[in-house]
Amino acid sequence: MTRAHNFYAGPSAIPAEVLQEAAQEMLDYKGTGTSIMETSHRSSDFDAVHNEAINLVKELMGLGDDFEVLMLQGGASTQFALIPMNFLSSDASADYINTGTWSKKAIKEAKLFGKVNIAANTELEGGVFRAIPKQADLKLDPKAVYCHITSNNTIYGTQWSQFPNTGNVPLVGDMSSDIMSRVFDPKPFGLIYAGAQKNLGPSGLALVIIRKDMVAKIKSGLPTMFNYKTHIDENSLYNTPPSFGVYMMGKVLKWVKANGGVAGMEKINNQKAATLYSAIDNSNGFYTNVIAKEDRSRMNIVFNLKTEELEKEFLKLAKSNNMLGLAGHRSIGGVRASIYNAVSQNSVNALCDLMKDFASKKS
Ligand SMILES: Cc1ncc(COP(=O)(O)O)c(C=O)c1O
Repeated sequence: MTRAHNFYAGPSAIPAEVLQEAAQEMLDYKGTGTSIMETSHRSSDFDAVHNEAINLVKELMGLGDDFEVLMLQGGASTQFALIPMNFLSSDASADYINTGTWSKKAIKEAKLFGKVNIAANTELEGGVFRAIPKQADLKLDPKAVYCHITSNNTIYGTQWSQFPNTGNVPLVGDMSSDIMSRVFDPKPFGLIYAGAQKNLGPSGLALVIIRKDMVAKIKSGLPTMFNYKTHIDENSLYNTPPSFGVYMMGKVLKWVKANGGVAGMEKINNQKAATLYSAIDNSNGFYTNVIAKEDRSRMNIVFNLKTEELEKEFLKLAKSNNMLGLAGHRSIGGVRASIYNAVSQNSVNALCDLMKDFASKKS
């Protein structure tokens, strides 16, 4: 069996060891004679899986007891609406920093519930984004109920290297495409959320982390399922949870822990990104990435070749060399290598070798 070099942006690579373990347990989870997917979410077997996943999130992210960890359905996109639904009202305002397509989607939902102050916007003419704003450029509202950022812009290949300082205003972070990839201080964040399908496991599960002081700010009168308090009070077991996703996330997190924790992930992620950016920057302009070095994503690395034809030829060659998912997002084209936690240095090296080979043949 040959495993592909998986550069998909999401759903994306899951560690082979995790997949193997899940495959082994598929017909008989720990002697129960069933898979965990066929097991009641009220059973002690599932309860152990569920709580272990929550505890691993807390441990790996250094959250301590200040935070509630929820595992919900509906992907990150549902959180775009649930966050303002829970915390923003028509007489209040929230800050949003617009750094890409996903920020824009979050802003659109927030406007349904209250005022939105765009504290910064890095959109260029033609609707593209290439930068993260500087602290000095932020027009923050000290009365904002929260300030929303997208920590890593999956489509445009930019990433906050240092999160903005919003004073007493809680940060809210969409960390869908870089959660668990680097160490950071969670304390300024009132809420963190992420779709699981990049660094945490399969799709179908969203991780939501809420700082405890935010709970008192949740609005009343919300529909039960859309109220974060319901899921906090019921330990994310109010209704049937996405049990397979929870089980897989637990296994991925155990793999993260066994491989040096988030700090271990960060170290190897930095090495992988340095390898790939250096292949781009040292190609004499054959491959280009125009993003300022300090704003470059270490998860989604975007680049262009001189013509669309060359890009197509390169992508075709990559596919025939067992490298998947390298086409840029359909909205911007080009090439994008998503090198999440589960993508190995070996895969990145293989890609860089192919890039060098292709450039030398075509230059
Ligand atoms: C940064 C970011 N936010 C949100 C989303 C949307 O996630 P979902 O498809 O889980 O709703 C994505 C999907 O790629 C993303 O990259």
